Amino acid sequence: MSERILVCVAWPYANGSVHVGQMAGCYLPADIFARYHRLKGNEVLMVSGSDQHGTPVTIRAETEGKTPSQVVNFYHDEFLDTWRRFGISFDLFTTTGTANHAQVAQDVFLKLLEKGYIYKDTVSQAFCTKCQRFLPDRYVEGTCPYCKSPGARGDQCEACGKPLNTPELINGHCRLCGTPPVYRDSEHFFLKLTAFNEPLLSWIKQKTHWRQNVMNFTARYLEEGLKDRAITRDIEWGVPVPLEGYENKRLYVWFEAVIGYLSATKEWAESIGDKERWRQFWQNDCRSYYFIGKDNIAFHTIIWPAMLMGYGGFNLPYDVPANEFLTIEGKKVSTSRNWAVWLPDYLNNYAPDPLRYLLSINMPETSDADFSWHEYVRRNNDELVATYGNLVHRVLTLTYRNFDGKVPSPNGTDDGSNQLNALCEEVFKDVGNFLAVCSFKQALSRAMALAHETNRYLDEKAPWKSIKEDRQAAANSLFVAIKAISVLKTMLYPFLPFSSQKLHEYLGFEGKIEDSGWEMHIPKPGQKLLQPQALFTKLDEELVEKETQKLGH
Ligand code: MF3
Ligand code: ZN
Repeated sequence: MSERILVCVAWPYANGSVHVGQMAGCYLPADIFARYHRLKGNEVLMVSGSDQHGTPVTIRAETEGKTPSQVVNFYHDEFLDTWRRFGISFDLFTTTGTANHAQVAQDVFLKLLEKGYIYKDTVSQAFCTKCQRFLPDRYVEGTCPYCKSPGARGDQCEACGKPLNTPELINGHCRLCGTPPVYRDSEHFFLKLTAFNEPLLSWIKQKTHWRQNVMNFTARYLEEGLKDRAITRDIEWGVPVPLEGYENKRLYVWFEAVIGYLSATKEWAESIGDKERWRQFWQNDCRSYYFIGKDNIAFHTIIWPAMLMGYGGFNLPYDVPANEFLTIEGKKVSTSRNWAVWLPDYLNNYAPDPLRYLLSINMPETSDADFSWHEYVRRNNDELVATYGNLVHRVLTLTYRNFDGKVPSPNGTDDGSNQLNALCEEVFKDVGNFLAVCSFKQALSRAMALAHETNRYLDEKAPWKSIKEDRQAAANSLFVAIKAISVLKTMLYPFLPFSSQKLHEYLGFEGKIEDSGWEMHIPKPGQKLLQPQALFTKLDEELVEKETQKLGH
């Protein structure tokens, strides 16, 4: 029976290019998962969009002397381009800047207000008398009261990692003009998270399938006790508060961004001309998965579920397979110090599949993982080229040349062949099971094990020798190897969509591989092959030096 699967992916701030850390953290795993379920014939909807609001965007705009709109439009277009070139297959990638999003976010706000889950209170807030504005936490800088480093921000000191309250900063000053702020009372709306502490605790008890890190973090947070949180800010850039007298305030970015999952689903339904279809994913049987990095766990396992519970009648997250971090050459990613590998730059120089491969086989699923260019070259050359690519190439060229460009007809079998056939079935099942539970690393290494075994089988049978004295023996073993390759192209498709499509064609299948289903497609004897070409290219060790030098400059 076909299932309904909603694939929600973190909304990137539209203030900079996508880097490999984000790719490994959420976009690639979400894409692998969505491709797998689409092949299975399930009804999949994969949504996300640019997060256009928040201080990361306004600070960037001010630093560059641009308007926030200019910044977000530029990066939104670049995101779309990156997804296309890297094969991240969103059904909709929208933005939080649409009228639809504002309307849905305001509806959620008003409903929670009406039900008493949002209330008003007065808070004391930094105000710059020179700039004549309230200053968000990140706009106040000063010296950290704990470690005494300069340049600490009102929300956190990056040097020692301690969270801060703005008034604690030593010599706090406005980052725009340098004036020390005064503190003024301001009225704000608060989300009553305290009301959801107990319901959330009982809800997470059923989540025995959650990853350990996600469960531990969430449970600890809830056991410490939730505090209510301000969900409006005194700023101009953001979704307006839908009440009279609050024209100078906006919804806090985190409150409205998570609502994007719902507003995007509605936008998608509208776009396919089936306006009510969003209900299928939010109010009917549907499993929703939230692919995010570990820094976003609380927002997806606590705050968003609390908002959904408060609203009532919507599906809560089924799973939140948050990934850990990816370090680059042993160091933490720093976008401001350019310690990052940017996707647009990568895609200008290299093919997508080798990076998709590396980030999948080395995915930071249960612990942090490291990216290095040396590892990139090694995995490409030793695994993609040597194990998988060469296997495909030698089987297909040998067959193409000796059997008139067609799949040969076998006339019998033997132990070795039966074993490989059985292994194909077993691995195919295992890979599907791993993918279904978001164990991507294991799924990929299991598939690669089949490539490895098929190479061994071929070395043993040596059809390049037998072709000279016993043509039928060569036909028999090549047929078995072709079968294995065909199973590989399906299992590897979620990871390596570009090369799997090529292999699909070389094997003589027509159309798009994504329409061919999660099945073992056995080419028929006599099926016409396409002249095969290499699936991957060997990379030169020299690129390691060249690419590593770009880091940190
Ligand atoms: N923009 C946030 C970030 O990049 C993530 C938002 S995820 C959302 O960290 F669901 F809240 F949108
Ligand atoms: Zn100022």
